[in-house]
Amino acid sequence: MREILVTSALPYANGYIHLGHLVEYIQTDIWARAMKAQGHQVTYVCADDAHGTAIMLKAEANGITPEEQIASVKASHEADFAKFLINFDNYHTTHSEENKHFSELIYRRLNSAGHISTKDVEQLFDPEKQLFLADRFVKGECSECGALDQYGDNCEVCGTTYDATDLKNPYSTLSNATPVLKTSKHYFFDLPEFEQFLKDWTRSDNRLQVSVANKLQEWFEAGLASWDISRDAPYFGFQIPDTPSVEPDKYFYVWLDAPVGYMASFKNLCDKREGTEQALDFDRYWAQENEHKTEVYHFIGKDIVYFHALFWPAMLAGSEFRTPTGVFAHGFLMVNGEKMSKSRGTFIKAETYAEHLHPEYLRYYFASKLSDKVEDINLDLEDFMQKVNSDLVGKVVNIASRSAGFIVKKYDGMLSDVCVESTLLEDITKTGDEIAAAYENREFSRAMRLIMQCADKANEYIDEKKPWSLAKIEGTEQEVQDVCSVAINIFRQLMVYLAPVLPELTANAKTFLNIEDLSFASRNEWLLGHKINKFKPLMQRIEEKDIEAMVEASKESLAQAAIPVANDTDVNCDSKADKNTQAAKTDTEQGDYIGIEDFAKVEMKVAHVLECNHVEGADKLLQFTLDVGEDKPRNVFSGIRKFYEPEQLADKKVICVTNLAPRKMKFGVSEGMVLSTGDPKTGLTVVTLPDDCVVGDTLA
Ligand code: 2FM
Ligand code: ZN
Repeated sequence: MREILVTSALPYANGYIHLGHLVEYIQTDIWARAMKAQGHQVTYVCADDAHGTAIMLKAEANGITPEEQIASVKASHEADFAKFLINFDNYHTTHSEENKHFSELIYRRLNSAGHISTKDVEQLFDPEKQLFLADRFVKGECSECGALDQYGDNCEVCGTTYDATDLKNPYSTLSNATPVLKTSKHYFFDLPEFEQFLKDWTRSDNRLQVSVANKLQEWFEAGLASWDISRDAPYFGFQIPDTPSVEPDKYFYVWLDAPVGYMASFKNLCDKREGTEQALDFDRYWAQENEHKTEVYHFIGKDIVYFHALFWPAMLAGSEFRTPTGVFAHGFLMVNGEKMSKSRGTFIKAETYAEHLHPEYLRYYFASKLSDKVEDINLDLEDFMQKVNSDLVGKVVNIASRSAGFIVKKYDGMLSDVCVESTLLEDITKTGDEIAAAYENREFSRAMRLIMQCADKANEYIDEKKPWSLAKIEGTEQEVQDVCSVAINIFRQLMVYLAPVLPELTANAKTFLNIEDLSFASRNEWLLGHKINKFKPLMQRIEEKDIEAMVEASKESLAQAAIPVANDTDVNCDSKADKNTQAAKTDTEQGDYIGIEDFAKVEMKVAHVLECNHVEGADKLLQFTLDVGEDKPRNVFSGIRKFYEPEQLADKKVICVTNLAPRKMKFGVSEGMVLSTGDPKTGLTVVTLPDDCVVGDTLA
């Protein structure tokens, strides 16, 4: 029996849970349940991420204390998770004694080992609110192109990245006051000292997905920087211990104590279980010397890889704790092929979903989409309805509903004493090995496919034997009972296989089947001469009107609530790493319609690639010389070097955005953009056009 601790990322305590979050909690929960069903001892913990400026400001806006704020959000998070059957062994908060203890302990150990240093940092300060301004709280004119109202990290008009202090005419978004420059001492964790350790760690023992390890390689190449782990008062968090009395008001940056929350939640559980049969030993899971006795896995979104695969293992290694066995990243959720959108009603709260649709529908749909890759997953609402109705209602539940009636009515619920199709049952039992492996490897979509293949076999068998016809023929009583018993036995195996995904449906099926156990091993025990109970429908079909009502309600609830969801994370992000990673998250969460007039502003033309070359000193770029039907060719840089050799694109017809403002780069001016599809992190494909397209023609 393996001893496994598993976590999902801790949600911020200032926003509601939405379907985008649920991808991760459902993924982790299925994995934890599947591993438990395979006989391992699995402990699944999580907590609210309760610290930071965002939470402090949210409480202030609500006229309550931060403690009241985080208590009410925690209660609502827990209620949402319960609805979606997320079976945490413990749900705690980072604003806890345990977290304070371990954050201080880790910090002190890092400090004694010489991994902490201090440096004066000059930052914009809001003289009215009396606080230092993270980049997302400062706006002003872009230093490059002069565009108004640009945030303190990058210009959305010309794309230049800069420091907030470079903005012209800056103002605080909190008070509109003109910020002043102010210096204060900050505490830094010396990440570069861990470079070699991290290079080895990220590449060994399959701890990370290959694409994640490759991304980290880019970060190594760009060079690691010391990490600013302190924030000045006012801040809602833990004070940094042992600071000199002249500098009393230093707090841990929220991202320092957030992952420590995994340990803290586990410790809280150890204390609760002390002296019980389920007692857990904290050190067995976290002490360095026990690293190989137990396993620790973190499930996270792709936007927070930096924190979990660099800062966190370095912090742990530097403070003599064990490091995670694996960190598993997933992609973002799209709805109907697009970013979730408030105006389209596809930015759906967990709570709103649960008011209209059964959570197990979503659990199954996500399972049918999830793999071990860091790919975004798409919730296509039409496909969602079709798939659930056809797979779960039409295939799986149907097996029981078409056989149980005969058994209960004609044979008083008794299944046959012998199995007349042992080869078929053995085949499905054997497929269980592959299904178990697929679960363990987080290839849930494969597991669901295999399960549906088993269901297909059962339905083909029933269709072939036609018990409803047989039942009309005299002298076939035994055969009808045998056929239906085979079907019920296969149904039981399918319940074993689906239990991690559909805990409620399978619990009801246990009552119907009159059995106790749905562990993976139980699939080997066939139900012979066994009495089952009356069948009650286990799942209703999804009705289109319920989906429509949910979408409608999401439009309303968000319009009314007007909660700036993206701020949950934006506000907490003020290191360079956060900026890069959060951009992707904000995009996903903030998607919305643009009007036709905005779309019409984009000019796209057929372009002929006259030349495509490497760019010396820029390992991410390719340089294009494009004929777009103008007097002279255009020069365009594109960040696709990783995915193409120049000769693959030479002489191709591509699409160029021709009215993008020219962008001055270190290597020259880029005069447009070559369109590609895909994810810039994992793979981009340049959109090419047929050779007979006319250069300079506008795309419409
Ligand atoms: O990105 C987020 O939503 C963070 N609250 C996740 C924290 S995970 C862990 F490190 F605590
Ligand atoms: Zn600009």
